[in-house]
Amino acid sequence: MQHLLEISHLTPKIVQDLMGRAFNFKHDPNYPRYPNSVVANLFYENSTRTRISFELAAKRLSMQVVALDLESSSETKGEIIEDTVRNLAAMGVKLFVIRHSQVGMPHTLAANCRGAAQIINAGDGTHEHPSQALLDFMTILEKKPDLEQLKIAIVGNLRHSRVCHSLQHLSSLLKVGELTLIAPEIWHPNMVHYGQVTSSLQDGIAGADVVICLRVQRERLLPNEQIDLASYHKDYGLTLQRLAYAKPDAMVMHPGPVNRGVEIDNDVVECPQSSILQQVTNGVFMRMAILESLLFLE
Ligand code: NCD
Repeated sequence: MQHLLEISHLTPKIVQDLMGRAFNFKHDPNYPRYPNSVVANLFYENSTRTRISFELAAKRLSMQVVALDLESSSETKGEIIEDTVRNLAAMGVKLFVIRHSQVGMPHTLAANCRGAAQIINAGDGTHEHPSQALLDFMTILEKKPDLEQLKIAIVGNLRHSRVCHSLQHLSSLLKVGELTLIAPEIWHPNMVHYGQVTSSLQDGIAGADVVICLRVQRERLLPNEQIDLASYHKDYGLTLQRLAYAKPDAMVMHPGPVNRGVEIDNDVVECPQSSILQQVTNGVFMRMAILESLLFLE
């Protein structure tokens, strides 16, 4: 694996290898040290969890980390991102973690910078967010390892969610038994890679082993896709009452940031079935696994 651009570039063997590394890191804190490797965090879109998670992952592996300060970077002087990456690569940065609003930007950089840079997609527009899907599946596997027997339900803004797109591809690769995708019709996805779409929250989460809630990404909605948040909560918000349609031990997940009282109730975020903070914890281990495997599988 030279880059991590999207889930469809992975094989079941690569995913298994990443999971193995991530669980090893979680269970044995004698981490290897890679002090000569330099990681650059290039976040052209806001991020708290993903950026800090990659930074901590690199630091736990004793890598050097640099972060671009967008306010004062040369792009404000008209430099194109390709040139920023090439220049950082000339200084010895090898691994680039990139988040950008433009679909395919990490792919373009990977193609244009050839051997000089290894690119990790940390979210490209509405397209993919592969490390999030990998850490989500690490969290599921930890509690419910028999994926072929599972029903996973994803509720939210399916059309615009890069997390949902990556989760569909990974569900297909890992042969998840049943995947239901739940949203009001106005947010149904334009293309479905895996799973069945429904507008009925009750049908969609009935008997589910895992319920994944997505944020209502207001910043991505077009004028004809708007729903007011109170009516979204009334019809699709995950409440304890609605969670009761799922299996009694169903896991509740959310990639964050959580909008409490919109897509998910406070009580559900805090309930014993909630695995939201385990996702965040596992995220660092999964990103350590991604960084390490890029070093070795060039
Ligand atoms: C997601 C993202 O940025 O795609 N968050 C994350 O990385 N944890 C989801 C979102 O913004 O709703």
